[in-house]
Amino acid sequence: MKLISFTLLFLTSTLLPLISTAQKLVKPGAVWYDDKGEVINAHGGGLLYVNKTYYWFGEKRGLSASEGVNVYSSKDLYTWKNEGLALAKSTDPASEIATNGLMERPKVIYNPKTKQYVMWFHLELPGQGYKAARAGVAVSKNVTGPYQYVKSFRPNGHMSRDMTLFVDDDGSAYHIYSARENYDLRLVKLTDDYLSATTQDTLLFSNHREAPAIFRKDNQYYLITSGCTGWAPNQASLHVATSPFGPWKLVGDPMQGPMADKTFDGQSTYIQPVQGKRNAFIFMADRWNPKDLKDSRYLWLPITFENNQPVVKWVDQWELARLGK
Ligand code: DGJ
Repeated sequence: MKLISFTLLFLTSTLLPLISTAQKLVKPGAVWYDDKGEVINAHGGGLLYVNKTYYWFGEKRGLSASEGVNVYSSKDLYTWKNEGLALAKSTDPASEIATNGLMERPKVIYNPKTKQYVMWFHLELPGQGYKAARAGVAVSKNVTGPYQYVKSFRPNGHMSRDMTLFVDDDGSAYHIYSARENYDLRLVKLTDDYLSATTQDTLLFSNHREAPAIFRKDNQYYLITSGCTGWAPNQASLHVATSPFGPWKLVGDPMQGPMADKTFDGQSTYIQPVQGKRNAFIFMADRWNPKDLKDSRYLWLPITFENNQPVVKWVDQWELARLGK
């Protein structure tokens, strides 16, 4: 009896806190498991915060195949539950989203007027490699889907590859995208229903950049991008503006630490504000494994500010509690 209660005491006082401490750390580059012990498969992703829950949308990948868009949910940003495929590939070979095409960098926003969740992604048509360069749109009444594919197009005729979405404080939404064989980075304002591009479509800069990730702090907008070297990592750069339409000023490389000049062996995908905290932002990147894309790692790092400019410093592990003020 004594032995049992001693064992129980030992377990609860020593081991359980260790387990929960282990769960409450973000470890950039480590294998990240969901709550069932499966490796999270959500690459090139983005987050959306709804009803006190974060949703992580990302590319479901096989060895190289693009298998649709996965969605995971979490209350605390550490522990993720697999909610399944938000947007599935079509089994109809004539469909624009048939199995052998590509769906990359999915991002989801909520439209309060239509009460719909709207997903945009980089769509490549089946069997054409990266030639089509189109923006794809899908919608759902439920955040986790299933999303219904609506259409694809080139915004105002421009090629559209790597992309992100951004909703500003006034509800205006923007699609930021690599155009003209990735030499141009452009921004287009979305229509009120968030389903289409307006003609308010601006060239931000022509520096041959992709993987855009944007956030706003006070009245400044910050945009981190990568260079264009396929799946291989390269140097990130930071631009700053006082309006999404620009002008965007090049600041330099915001990464600091080992392999900072290669974005820590990663590539930007999204920047998430942490709810309920001021000036707390998470920089999200992918460490791609082109030999087995599903096995690519996630790099989530805190953004700090030095002289009012964002800096992303490498840390082996960190707690959300240290973010913001
Ligand atoms: C770089 C892009 O950022 C990725 O999303 C992907 O399209 C790869 N290129 C493909 O080489």
